[in-house]
Formats: sequence, structure tokens, C-alpha cells
Amino acid sequence: MSAVDLTTEYVGLRLANPLVVASAGITETVDRLRRIEGAGAAVMKSWFETDRARTSPTPRFRLLRRGMAGFRSTTLYSFEQASGFDLDRYAEEVRRAKDAVDMPVFASANCVTDAGWVAWSRAMEQAGADALELNVSCPFGPQMMGQVGAVSEPAVGARHAVPARRPGADALTCGAAATVEQEMQRITRLVKATVATPVATKMTPQLANPVAVAKTIEAAGADGLVMFNRFTGLDLDLDQERPIMHGAYAGHGGAWALQYVLRWISASYPAVSIPIASSGGVADGDDVAKLILCGATVVETCAAVVLGGPGAIPRLLRGLTRFMQAKGYMSPEEFRGKACARILESEEVDRRRLAVAAIDEAACTACARCARVCIYEAARPAGDKYEVVAAACSGCGLCQQVCPADAIHMTSL
Ligand SMILES: Cc1cc2nc3c(=O)[nH]c(=O)nc-3n(C[C@H](O)[C@H](O)[C@H](O)COP(=O)(O)O)c2cc1C
Repeated sequence: MSAVDLTTEYVGLRLANPLVVASAGITETVDRLRRIEGAGAAVMKSWFETDRARTSPTPRFRLLRRGMAGFRSTTLYSFEQASGFDLDRYAEEVRRAKDAVDMPVFASANCVTDAGWVAWSRAMEQAGADALELNVSCPFGPQMMGQVGAVSEPAVGARHAVPARRPGADALTCGAAATVEQEMQRITRLVKATVATPVATKMTPQLANPVAVAKTIEAAGADGLVMFNRFTGLDLDLDQERPIMHGAYAGHGGAWALQYVLRWISASYPAVSIPIASSGGVADGDDVAKLILCGATVVETCAAVVLGGPGAIPRLLRGLTRFMQAKGYMSPEEFRGKACARILESEEVDRRRLAVAAIDEAACTACARCARVCIYEAARPAGDKYEVVAAACSGCGLCQQVCPADAIHMTSL
């Protein structure tokens, strides 16, 4: 088998491979960074300017196991707060990390004042951080919590009556800019004007047009884009009729997030010239390969390491290598962005009826799932099995997807 070379250039740095461990508790201290060596780089847990955010509530993780019609899905729901360090101690940890680990170390922060951003970025540059990641997108950080108030709201009639919680809870908290989009751009410009260290801006996924926002952040001088942080979410305890865990909104992510990230990176890659770091939804090496095919220069991973431990890093790299060997690629550059040109416009999609479902009678267990989902009533009982009436079948393919016995295939017309 051909040897592959995974080395990757990102924000002017040479990484041993394109896998970057994303900012979270797993990257907070030098000891934890040592455990994840083997990744191409690590983004340290974000430093927050607000002291309150440096203390996490307990508990702060919930694995939301849900299902629909027998299919399982999992969401990692969490409210882990910022690095517990003050600025001096955080800088000290960056300095120690630079000596202790053999991979680039990026510092990350979420500040609420311009003075905070300036002080943090200068301190990180002095501490020797290889790059800065601007966490202007924390799902429960000050910018995001105020997002509902971030655009001027039209005058409307009376709102739904909700018992008062605390005054000003949905007030705009977007620094000097009017919207979260503008704030991401403004902070990028500010930090770029302050330090020479490379800067990557981590975008929120909660945007109407991520491509347009990516372009404005590039125009503000960012050296890289991180797409994306997690979504904010909410879950309720039905007995208590109130939010679970700490009682507030939380970040939620998981393998399900991948498609959103693929969709917007593939659209942004042809629109910008700076490198894109993907973040969100990586579960295995195939996901890493897909993200690079959609244009990611590096692939950040967090939940896979939080839940799978440091062993997730070699596992993801092995999966990527397997893909490359199977395709004969020697380096990630050879296939970066290759899928973008293959994504059709909606008008170009072939809408002809090209295939219909057929059931393998021997494999059918007569569970009736195909009939339950078939709105065309093409899947019907036939003796003690099920069959598809080809003339009625629209070829939608859903019965094949839900069949637990793998008894359904699509046949070409
Ligand atoms: C427990 C936890 C803590 C996180 N803390 C931070 C943080 O401090 N700063 C940050 O920019 N992102 C933080 N994130 C977001 C991750 O860096 C990453 O962007 C996100 O989890 C999506 O990637 P994934 O699907 O691989 O987990 C955190 C995520 C989790 C699950």
C-alpha cells in the first residue's frame, strides 16, 4: 500500500496531520494536552473574560438518547464553562504547553470588552501561542445569549405572557456592534490589529447566510475560519417542567451535526481563499475524509474525544489514511474541495423516476415497516410476506432505509 503524507499547512503553520483537537475541557491543561499528542494541533480550552464563566455547574453533561420509530439518536448536551484560569495563569499554561507537547498549541478566548480581547491576544502572543482562535461563538457566551435581541425587532402587539424571570435577560449583549455577524468581524479586525500571531475566527452556526459571514470575516483579516461552534439548545424535565441540569440553555452537538458543517463548508470553500477548519459532528475517519472533500484544511474534533478518549485520535487518522489509500491519494491536498464542484444546483437535479423498490421474499420478515412508511401504498402484504407493487411505487427509497432485514433493494427502471 502507498504511504500517505498527512502533513498540512494551516494558518501559516505546518501540522503533522489535519486533525485538530477542538477547544474543550480535554485541552484545558498541559497534562490533558499530553494525552492527545498525535493530533496535528490542539486548541486550548477557551479563556473567558467574565470571572463567572470560569466556574462550571454540576452536573454539566447529559447524553440525550432519543429515538424515532425505533431508530436511535444521541445528542451530547453540555454546559461546560470556560477555563478555570485567570489571564496570567492561562498564559502560563500556554507557555508550559509549548515546552511540553510536540504539536502547535492554539489559544482560545471569549471576551466581552475590546480591552479584554487586546489584553488576551497580547498575553497569548507573549506566551508563544502558535495561533489564536476567537471563540466569538460560544453557544452560551455573551454574544450568543443576546442573539435574539441582536437585530432591531419590529413593533408588534402584545407578546406571550411569561412569568418574569429577571430584568433584561434577553438584552442585546453584542459589544459595540449591532449584530453577532458584525461582532465576529469587528473582533477579528481588532485582534488582527493587535498581534502578528495567526488568527482564526470560530463562527456560530446560527446564521442566515454562513457564506456571506465567512467572506466578511476573511475581509476583516482572519487567517483562518473555524466552521462552526455548537448550536445552543434546550431540553426540559417533563415532571419539573423546567430546563434539565443547570436550568439554562446549553450547547448541543453530536454526530448528527456533520451534515450542517459539510453543507456550509462546501459552499464557503469556493467563496474564500483562507483555510477553513471544520468543527462539528466528526465520528469516524470517513467523516474526516468527507470534510476535506468539502474543503476543510483541518478537521477539529471534540465530542469524539470527550466520549471516546484520546484513542479517538489515532482511530480517526487510521480511517482517513484508509480512505486515502483506497483512493490512491498521497496527501490531503489532492482531494481537498474535490466534492464542491460535484454539488448540483437544485434546478439541475434529475427528477425522473429511475428506480423502484423490490422486496427479496426470502429475506422479508414481514415486520411491516415498509408498509407503515409507504405513503404510496405500494408496499403491501402478499401471503405471509410483503411485496412492492412496482406500478404504485414512486421510487422514494424510504422502505429500503427502514427495512431491518435488508430485504429491500432499488431496481433500475
Ligand atoms: C464539553 C465541551 C466544551 C466545549 N468548550 C469549548 C470552549 O471552551 N471553547 C470553544 O471554542 N468551543 C468549545 N466547545 C465546542 C467544541 O470546541 C467544538 O466546536 C464542538 O463541540 C463541535 O465539535 P464536535 O462535534 O467534534 O464536538 C466545547 C464543546 C464541548 C462538548
